[in-house]
Amino acid sequence: MVITDTDKGQQAELRTMTLDQLDDLDVLVEVAFSTINYKDGMALTGRNRIARRSPLIGGIDLAGTVIESRNPEWKSGDRVTVNGWGLSERFHGGYTQKQRVKAEWLVRIPDVFSLQDAAAIGTAGYTAALCVDALVKWGALAPQSEVLVTGAAGGVGSVAVSLLAALGMKVTASTGRPQTHAYLRSLGATAFVDRAELDAAGAPAQTERWAGVVDSVGSTTLVNALAQTARGGAVSACGLAGGADLNGTVIPFILRGVALLGIDSVLAPMEKRLSAWSRLAADLAPAKLALMTRVEPMSRLPELAEDILAGRIQGRVVIDVNA
Ligand SMILES: NC(=O)c1ccc[n+]([C@@H]2O[C@H](COP(=O)([O-])OP(=O)(O)OC[C@H]3O[C@@H](n4cnc5c(N)ncnc54)[C@H](OP(=O)(O)O)[C@@H]3O)[C@@H](O)[C@H]2O)c1
Repeated sequence: MVITDTDKGQQAELRTMTLDQLDDLDVLVEVAFSTINYKDGMALTGRNRIARRSPLIGGIDLAGTVIESRNPEWKSGDRVTVNGWGLSERFHGGYTQKQRVKAEWLVRIPDVFSLQDAAAIGTAGYTAALCVDALVKWGALAPQSEVLVTGAAGGVGSVAVSLLAALGMKVTASTGRPQTHAYLRSLGATAFVDRAELDAAGAPAQTERWAGVVDSVGSTTLVNALAQTARGGAVSACGLAGGADLNGTVIPFILRGVALLGIDSVLAPMEKRLSAWSRLAADLAPAKLALMTRVEPMSRLPELAEDILAGRIQGRVVIDVNA
């Protein structure tokens, strides 16, 4: 699935390419699965000009098997995944059956996960784990703390709900889709807040509710999440599904010592990635992952791109690059 600059903006289409058209990078991977993340939606529709080269193979994630490697750390048959690192921005991405990548981008897929599981986790799931790691490292979470996940029925949200529930937290899910409540309960949420409630402007300091928050929405939702976070708590901010603005006050920071923890998955160092993947291997049971995953062929990507930008996707969609 190749993104190309055209007179009508950027467009994505299925095309045949040959190996010599790939970048000359150290490791050749036989890709089995990719995924669709919110950023893939933006890239495939040309919104925000994610792709900085033309033509460029899309897909910010890939999961597959090493075919050949010029780097001794990787050998044929190794099961690997790549998340971010500029795939679908400056480097060809995962919507392809073969891809060349830099050796230092690769993460070994934990034994508990299949290639499909690793793709189901993808950037969204690994980012959720980065968010939870940041809350834990900050010291925000005590046993059975009340925590909030916004954009809960989306990709980041679904994995965050599962990971926080596995840690023994009492998870409140904020969603704009009441029809997802049963699904979110099956992942471990025990209470719900309507998306609209957090999307309406509120006081700078509100009743202290959350020890920690994973926010994939941004804008007014993030401002309210900060205003509802309890003394010494923290908010991991990773997304902008509701907007990139942040029109709040410093009150939560200076009167309650609340921390705003910024999460970037794209260029996160390997140490943080390995910690996130260890957390996923320990706390995200494949059976639970299956509850939030469906598999689609590459031909459906243009439609799925529109769906994810419109907030219509529940959980995670894996892309079978051979279907
Ligand atoms: N910082 C990073 O490195 C990083 C990594 C991954 C993702 N992200 C960002 O995190 C966000 C979520 O990514 P994703 O892949 O999980 O996307 P996703 O599956 O589409 O999830 C986003 C969720 O946000 C909610 N939402 C959608 N539109 C909204 C709106 N207008 N106002 C409020 N809530 C809205 C919906 O949840 P409900 O239906 O439950 O309300 C939706 O399912 C995106 O902004 C993405 O760019 C950032």
